[in-house]
Amino acid sequence: MSSALVQVPQLVLGDRNPFQSIGISDYKEAFDTGPKGFRKEIEENGSVAQPAAKYPHYLPSWDPEKKYPPLQPFVHYEHGNDADPSFPHLLAGAKVFQLAANIGAEIQGVQLSQLTSKGKDELALFVAKHKVVAFREQDFADLSISEALNFGGYFGRHHIHPTSGAPAGYPEVHLVHRSAEDTTSKDFFAERTNSITWHSDITYEEQPPGTTFLYILDGPTVGGDTLFANQAEAYRRLSPEFRKRLHGLQAVHSGHEQARLSEEKGGVVRRQPITTIHPLVRTHPATGEKALFVNSQFTRRIVGLKQEESEYLLRFLFDHIAKGQDFQTRVKWAPRTVVVWDNRVTSHTALLDWEDGQRRHLARITPQAERPVETPFEGDEASVL
Ligand SMILES: [Fe+2]
Repeated sequence: MSSALVQVPQLVLGDRNPFQSIGISDYKEAFDTGPKGFRKEIEENGSVAQPAAKYPHYLPSWDPEKKYPPLQPFVHYEHGNDADPSFPHLLAGAKVFQLAANIGAEIQGVQLSQLTSKGKDELALFVAKHKVVAFREQDFADLSISEALNFGGYFGRHHIHPTSGAPAGYPEVHLVHRSAEDTTSKDFFAERTNSITWHSDITYEEQPPGTTFLYILDGPTVGGDTLFANQAEAYRRLSPEFRKRLHGLQAVHSGHEQARLSEEKGGVVRRQPITTIHPLVRTHPATGEKALFVNSQFTRRIVGLKQEESEYLLRFLFDHIAKGQDFQTRVKWAPRTVVVWDNRVTSHTALLDWEDGQRRHLARITPQAERPVETPFEGDEASVL
């Protein structure tokens, strides 16, 4: 179980943010096409080659008038701590297949929407241990949006994304949407060699997400898979000396670049962007497992290091995570799939690898969790799987 949660004191930024425009800026957007890329006519009615959206009530909308105040702190309750570690309520009658030796599982024979509270507690712990879990043949997309949100709300406060499209009336649903016949990938690849964007979601928030749900509504027949990396295994792969040095370091995570790109694309900025300082190594509150908590999309600078030193160390960590195919897995989407990951101990990237104009449309429910906590270096961490 978890080691004592002794929090390392965190820096508090004053009004003047000294890091706002300093540091690595690898922010890259291959997937969020924004309102300019949204083809309403084709999405609602289809084209010669592509059918209409299967779930039109989930099509994205952007209301530039709707603004939200800064998020306020809240106390996160970690349901994984209440779970029976033998998972009797989650896995009764289920088939579990591991996707890779150290990350990922696929489960058949469980209907998420039917889980009791005990089943949900076990889901939180199971996902924390396996990092990412694909559930097949789910009815999630066919629930009402309110029912889906009710389910996800068990795991934490719903996050409202500052920039993404959302179904009308449901700003808590984050949509990942690429219209049918969208050709903007050609523009993207005119400038970039690949679409890889390793990240954990919205780590610039003071309380980034924990147990996170993404379900498919429409997708290409082949392509558009999602890759996941085990950030706890990435931590353990480092030498004890290196890990020891990372402890106590803190990094700046920024939402400014995402907001600026949204504005450039004619999109919305619902909440003023912020930067937040988090520990480089965080401890999971249910498993006690330590994980690297940096990502190339949002982490900009290591506090207390000079710019070149910070860049040197962050580049090493980003490369280490990106190249670690021996602690990564690949989830293939299929109709009626819900993928659940623990955003505290994973990073992920989508792939923009299909070119035949098929629509890709997914919905994310994003419960926020605790403010990242660092516990002291121990040196003998083992996998919780
Ligand atoms: Fe993401």
